[in-house]
Amino acid sequence: MERLVEIEKFESEESNELTLRPDAWNEYIGQEKIKKNLGVFIEASKKRQEALDHVLFFGPPGLGKTTLALIIANEMNANIKVTAAPMIEKSGDLAAILTNLEEGDILFIDEIHRLSPAVEEILYSSMEDFRIDIIIGSGPAAQTVKIDLPRFTLIGATTRAGMLSNPLRDRFGMSFRMEFYNSPELAKIISQASNKLDKEIVHEASIEIAKRSRGTPRIALRLLRRVRDFADVADESDINHSRTQYALDELGINSHGFDEMDIRLLNLLVSAKGKAMGLSTIAAALSEDEGTVEDVLEPYLIANGYLERTAKGRKATRSTYDILDLPTPMTEEGTLF
Ligand SMILES: Nc1ncnc2c1ncn2[C@@H]1O[C@H](COP(=O)(O)OP(=O)(O)OP(=O)(O)O)[C@@H](O)[C@H]1O
Ligand SMILES: [Mg+2]
Repeated sequence: MERLVEIEKFESEESNELTLRPDAWNEYIGQEKIKKNLGVFIEASKKRQEALDHVLFFGPPGLGKTTLALIIANEMNANIKVTAAPMIEKSGDLAAILTNLEEGDILFIDEIHRLSPAVEEILYSSMEDFRIDIIIGSGPAAQTVKIDLPRFTLIGATTRAGMLSNPLRDRFGMSFRMEFYNSPELAKIISQASNKLDKEIVHEASIEIAKRSRGTPRIALRLLRRVRDFADVADESDINHSRTQYALDELGINSHGFDEMDIRLLNLLVSAKGKAMGLSTIAAALSEDEGTVEDVLEPYLIANGYLERTAKGRKATRSTYDILDLPTPMTEEGTLF
């Protein structure tokens, strides 16, 4: 079954996301710090009529990295070429992309942590020198040809900033960590989207959905579409509060947006009775890989104080016990917290 609060995008959602994706700066809600900084850089480079410095966005899936890259292109009046690291297999693939760029173009590379080392090396030298060396032929007859590139802007996005090599990371003039959204921001995104869907939503209902969206626009929009289905079936012209509550309960989304996977992880931490648990142990117990646990499952729980990362591993917090409706356990020294 598809996990409703899964933050990765479902295949079937591609076209839905496109219709609901904001394309103007003022439709991009939240991430105020990032927007403020970027706004200054964009204005400055427009004034100087220069390409924008290279930008890196990192953070959990569904927080709006791709959307922001597209909006930047829009603001800069620049062409944007969108690709993802797994599609650039050989250095020749990257050379072909780079040599086809024009002055001021933006190249967006998603999942940039997945580039092979050979491709990555070409990329970071081109970011710095706007030049690539291509080897033509092989053996003793091989020749190196230097090709000048136009001034372009690379926008990289990754859910796993820790996996980027230092040289690559250092070549980005700006790097921004995406933050989870608060409920009022998500509610705004929801009501903006419902306008686009031509189905009004009352404010309490958008807040209700927002609270259960794990701080993530992608989940908020997904839940909105599902709740709209319930309203449509009930022949209601707008999305009201009680229908929303009913729908969310039917869909099995609890009031914190946690799903079965989150609850399993929290229960696991609690079972350690106050001790820290290593990442590999957690990953094995949940049958997930460590990267997914670390970059997809944990950030939201940490941001909300339900999980603590310590030198020895992951620990439950007082809030973890509270949310699971468990008494905090006693230790020899007294209570745990
Ligand atoms: N700040 C925002 N304001 C309005 N809508 C947003 C915002 N951020 C994201 N969205 C919406 O959420 C959806 C997911 O965003 P997006 O695809 O940009 O996320 P992402 O960070 O690139 O995710 P991934 O890591 O999976 O590629 C988009 O359809 C977009 O419409
Ligand atoms: Mg994306």
